[in-house]
Amino acid sequence: MTTPLIFVLNGPNLNLLGTREPEVYGTGTLDDLETLCAETAEGLGVAIDVRQSNLEGELISWVHEARARAAGLIINPAGYSHTSVALMDAILALDIPVIEVHLSNIHKRESFRQHSYVSRAADGVICGLGFAGYRLALIALSDILEEDQ
Ligand code: DQA
Repeated sequence: MTTPLIFVLNGPNLNLLGTREPEVYGTGTLDDLETLCAETAEGLGVAIDVRQSNLEGELISWVHEARARAAGLIINPAGYSHTSVALMDAILALDIPVIEVHLSNIHKRESFRQHSYVSRAADGVICGLGFAGYRLALIALSDILEEDQ
């Protein structure tokens, strides 16, 4: 049996985690987040490929890559959640389970953050739980993948 691969994609400005608005996003860095994901994945027996980009087109290309390579997708589209029909369309073309994650509770914030195009394409959405949201998304995806076997 092959180990399922889960893509974990992070959108613009998440490379600045730790120093960017720490009162909203916390003090942990993107490296810390990757370590948490790696430890969680190891415990669950899944493989992960964690990436971050500030470019919409690059994120879309990675979603296309996930069509062929990944068993599941976790994505924090960051600012593109609220603007990108193209990213939503790329995710709609996937036939693997997708979980959208936001560190902050977008529903408690400015009105322009309260709508996510990506949510229309995601199977599940986790927000407001900080880094733990990624851990929970990995657990949920690994459960879904096990059920599908
Ligand atoms: C975010 C929320 C978005 O509104 C924002 O643009 C981000 C991060 C979050 O993780 O809380 O960059 O996706």
